[in-house]
Amino acid sequence: MQQTEHYNDRVVRQFALMTVVWGIVGMLVGVVIAAQLMWPALNFDIPWLTYSRLRPLHTNAVIFAFGGSALFATSYYIVQRTCHVRLFADKLAGFTFWGWQAIILSAAITLPLGMTSGKEYAELEWPIDILITIVWVSYAIVFFGTLAKRRVQHIYVANWFFAAYILTIAVLHLVNSAAMPATLFRSYSVYPGVVDAMVQWWYGHNAVGFFLTAGFLGMMYYFIPKQAGRPVFSYRLSVVHFWSLISLYMWAGPHHLIYTSLPDWVQSLGMVFSIMLIAPSWGGMINGVMTLSGAWHKLRTDPILKFLVVSLSFYGMSTFEGPMMSIKSVNALSHYTDWTIGHVHSGALGWVAMISVGSLYALIPRLYGLDRMYSIKAIDIHFWTTTIGIVLYVAAMWIAGLMQGLMWRAVNTDGTLTYTFVEALKATYPYYAVRVLGGFMVFCGMLLMAWNVWKTVSSVKHGPDIPVLAPAAH
Ligand code: HEM
Ligand code: HEM
Repeated sequence: MQQTEHYNDRVVRQFALMTVVWGIVGMLVGVVIAAQLMWPALNFDIPWLTYSRLRPLHTNAVIFAFGGSALFATSYYIVQRTCHVRLFADKLAGFTFWGWQAIILSAAITLPLGMTSGKEYAELEWPIDILITIVWVSYAIVFFGTLAKRRVQHIYVANWFFAAYILTIAVLHLVNSAAMPATLFRSYSVYPGVVDAMVQWWYGHNAVGFFLTAGFLGMMYYFIPKQAGRPVFSYRLSVVHFWSLISLYMWAGPHHLIYTSLPDWVQSLGMVFSIMLIAPSWGGMINGVMTLSGAWHKLRTDPILKFLVVSLSFYGMSTFEGPMMSIKSVNALSHYTDWTIGHVHSGALGWVAMISVGSLYALIPRLYGLDRMYSIKAIDIHFWTTTIGIVLYVAAMWIAGLMQGLMWRAVNTDGTLTYTFVEALKATYPYYAVRVLGGFMVFCGMLLMAWNVWKTVSSVKHGPDIPVLAPAAH
């Protein structure tokens, strides 16, 4: 069945372009804080620019502004294409765009001013939390409304992942943000002591599992088959992947609280579920990589496919490393060190940023009725600067982390510490320099992307609402 109809691509274009903008902003702040760790004077004695305020600005900008915009853009695009219908409730979809941007702006103002709930990745104060709830419920209405009015019976697997991410984030946000307001920009968590810590890391880990993983797996299941021109390797595996991933992730949060006052059995439970998580994570990675069977030669000429495949390699690496780090004896070495930061960025830069960038390069020309980006060469250069930059960043943090862990625990025969803390810090500086370089390369790649997107978009002569031929049913 073929039918011509207009999809709502306006909101997809808005989110897609803002992904590039927020990627640049978030990574610039990342480079600045990386430089501050080397040269603390770079805060210029201005409270707004201190490391403690810019760090949450970085995490919020890259996760929620950059990653979030990429997720909105791709989920809205994919759900329309795979359901063969226009988005449900255009106005509400438009509201999710402006609402999400308003949240980002509020974060960009309040975090440097030092207003924070103190909960990592959930720092924003209660009035902004309420706005997040309103926008997220609207997002759910648009997404599930579109699924409900679909013209094909089948729900493509990418939509399952997007659906799980939207529902879970709603629950996580509501539970973890429960707080008693004291003033307009000050509130206190309703949970006491160690319960607060457990709820926070149940949230924190599932923010990784559902915001930084499930949604991006949705992207992976659509753009890898499209770009490779091959069907998903195993549809059955994708279903097993989905159910096992979402049921295991929920229980792994306590691995963030190993050797704390959390009951020991809860820590062990988190560790066991984290180790089990290797199976669905690698199942998904293998499904993505094997989708390229018969299309490997395309890697020679298609830099977009390179982005997508390398992102999967980083996904595989970080989801092997994470379960290892959750083993109590390994965590005793890795916790508090830069090893964690290396793990974070192999997941966040290697997996999340690379799959987003690859998907956007595939998506943006289609949104403007073009068959490719303005410069393929620039995509290739972006791919190499990013890949080398990430490897420099992550490898430097791995080495630094291991070194710190070993130096901190080294003891002399008389039981005294072999190294002072400052000695370990001094030994870390060369690695911090390598991170600044790696991060700067990744940032420059984003600038090149912005130029390429600008050239692509400005080459379009006709108006924005291009009629699109709906694809034949799968
Ligand atoms: C140019 C690229 C980037 C640079 C230079 C950079 C740099 C940094 C630095 C210096 C820190 C603080 C480390 C510390 O406290 O010791 C950090 C933390 C963090 N960054 Fe990035 N970053 C970049 C990109 C990203 C991206 C794209 C994401 C997510 C999609 C991300 C997610 C995070 C997270 C979650 C943390 C907190 C880690 C933790 O608390 O353990 N970063 N980043
Ligand atoms: C099977 C999958 C994974 C497991 C079992 C896992 C496990 C872990 C463990 C044990 C830690 C260290 C906790 C600590 O010592 O404080 C950690 C930290 C972290 N991981 Fe993973 N990880 C996984 C995948 C990922 C992926 C794919 C990403 C990013 C996309 C990611 C992002 C993070 C972040 C942001 C932190 C730092 C949290 C913080 O302290 O602020 N993880 N993870």
